[in-house]
Amino acid sequence: MNFPKNFLWGAATSAYQIEGAAQQDGKGLSVWDMMCRKPGAIWRGQNGDIACDHYHRYPEDVALMKEVGLQAYRFSVSWPRVIPDGMGRINTKGLDFYDKLVDELLAAGIRPFLTLFHWDYPYELYLRGGWLNPSSPEWFAEYAGILAEKLSDRVHDWITHNEPQCFIGDGHRTGVHAPGDKLDWPEVLKAGHNCLLAHGRAVQALRANGRDKINVGYAPVGIVKFPARNEPADIKAAREVMFGMWEKTMWNNTWWMDPVFLGRYPDDGLKIFENDLPPIGPHDMEIINQPIDFFGVNIYSGEAYRMGQGNRMEPVPLDPGHPLTAFYWPVQPEALYWGPRFFQERYKRPIFITENGMANPDWVAQDGHIHDTQRIDFTHRYLQALGQAIRDGVDVRGYFHWSIMDNFEWAEGFKQRFGLIHVDFNTLKRTLKDSARWYQQVIARNGLES
Ligand code: FCB
Repeated sequence: MNFPKNFLWGAATSAYQIEGAAQQDGKGLSVWDMMCRKPGAIWRGQNGDIACDHYHRYPEDVALMKEVGLQAYRFSVSWPRVIPDGMGRINTKGLDFYDKLVDELLAAGIRPFLTLFHWDYPYELYLRGGWLNPSSPEWFAEYAGILAEKLSDRVHDWITHNEPQCFIGDGHRTGVHAPGDKLDWPEVLKAGHNCLLAHGRAVQALRANGRDKINVGYAPVGIVKFPARNEPADIKAAREVMFGMWEKTMWNNTWWMDPVFLGRYPDDGLKIFENDLPPIGPHDMEIINQPIDFFGVNIYSGEAYRMGQGNRMEPVPLDPGHPLTAFYWPVQPEALYWGPRFFQERYKRPIFITENGMANPDWVAQDGHIHDTQRIDFTHRYLQALGQAIRDGVDVRGYFHWSIMDNFEWAEGFKQRFGLIHVDFNTLKRTLKDSARWYQQVIARNGLES
């Protein structure tokens, strides 16, 4: 199965999960540095102080990306590494790190996709209220402007937030992610609204300070529902559930996507949260609804739905023994067919799959190799589905595997391995897994053998 000529094959990471050097060269603390100090917050008390030590080993890592044949690499910038207090003073050494990384990538022929915010929020700003502070959109815009100024002559692809569902929902409501807060709904929604405003203000700042023409996108979680059978009634059921809000939770699509792409909060969400809403300024929705160039989306799994008796939308339970990853996320390749299709239908933007992959209990076999056949099979199936979506007319421009290398998986510590490249967290030795070799061939032939 061939992919379109200009399709981009990539892989992704984020700063806190790989960089390490948590307290070096003038970096400020982030909420994740602090979260990892809370007893019981992270699996086995682990932390990202060293992680993959990518901060020091980036030349080796870029060389490995080149060996795999990556055409694009999605990484994030650590905000407190660049601006230790989150606003004001710039840490030149921190900014230089990204400058050198970008040059290294370009020299290897790899196109950088830069994410501004992948969860490591400056601790100093958190002390001032974090996303609850009405100035937080301005702080974020200032940070975006500084990066654009420095890097946009070479970085042409920018992403504002990664997965607001997680850093607002898990960070401020359930408390399992940093900063670990369990706020009431009015505060959660206020933080969420400021984070959407921050997206809009950052897009403006990127465009105002961009030295070249840049593409700007956004990377929310894509929570996918797909039809149990390819029939109109089931398609309708899946679409309605996927774009509906049914209860008080941040785990949904439309609360985070409709404002950005359509300029309004969804009516059903406004109803559910009618007593919890923050004040919404007269120009807020306009600021949030900046024109952006692509729809980035992270898709790992999905859930089948069918139209049941009396037009009731019903989830279809998994068969006993249905394949699960090490995270116990169901393997559902259909998500990479119906997800892009439904998202394009509603939001009408070119799509990049900004994350997709699986956790697997990989280890180095006695022959020195890492035989991660499950990851190969998983990715093969998901890419087949994605290729079919493209054939059926969905405008998907690229795919970023999560992740290029094993890394620090947030509250799960180093328990979950997602990499195409194995990292030994004692020696920090990198070894290409079988899946990396397989992906190398996919990229080389611009598609799948079958
Ligand atoms: C996503 C995150 C990413 C990684 C993967 C497994 O939710 O964006 O950082 O943890 O899941």
